[in-house]
Amino acid sequence: MVALDGPSGTGKTTVARKLAERLSAGYLDTGAMYRVVTLAVLRAGVDPADADAVAATARDAVFTVGTTPVRPAVTLAGADVSAEIRGPEVNHAVSPVSAVPAVRELLVARQRRIIDEVLAEVGGIVVEGRDIGTVVAPDSPLKVYLTASPEIRAARRSAQDNAAGRRSTQADALASVDRRDRLDSSRAASPLRAAPDAVHLDTSELEIDQVLVALSELASRRG
Ligand code: C5P
Repeated sequence: MVALDGPSGTGKTTVARKLAERLSAGYLDTGAMYRVVTLAVLRAGVDPADADAVAATARDAVFTVGTTPVRPAVTLAGADVSAEIRGPEVNHAVSPVSAVPAVRELLVARQRRIIDEVLAEVGGIVVEGRDIGTVVAPDSPLKVYLTASPEIRAARRSAQDNAAGRRSTQADALASVDRRDRLDSSRAASPLRAAPDAVHLDTSELEIDQVLVALSELASRRG
């Protein structure tokens, strides 16, 4: 198993999927789980700041996340919401929703179950998020913490948004990335933090393929 943590815009998702493909392993995007619960909260008209109502919506939400690295679909109430969970409304509300302890408890338990199932079926898994090495799977043999400068992360996020047909300038992306990082790092319940034994990798100056080579080498030794 490989635990891949770090803030947004570090290339985490791209790298995690490619690494999982290369290792013929399963893949779990824990951010997609917080995003789909956030979409359920927004659809229910619940205020993301109302922790009790958010927790109740999370408990009732019927959703699935794919565990293959190629086009892992995310569904809510039976419909594919893979694109919608990347939109600006969810981006804005996801940090407050994921700071609710009851939401984290629910999703961490589910993440651990999925990891166990995929490990039993496929033999390996790459899991990406913010608290995988610290909370979800602290016994993971390989923990990697990806970083990149805020400007590079904003540029990547804005390019991704534009490629997906959502107009975004680099300044918008920087403000949004900064805000989420601040909220994610400062929350009381499992904040964004590197595990003490994580390997740190700054991806600012690296192409995706270079990051992939570095991670594949680490995984072949420890994954
Ligand atoms: O990785 P992604 O940007 O899709 O994550 C969206 C949000 O979900 C993060 O900004 C964070 O608030 C939350 N998250 C989390 N814990 C994780 C993964 C994501 O709190 N393990």
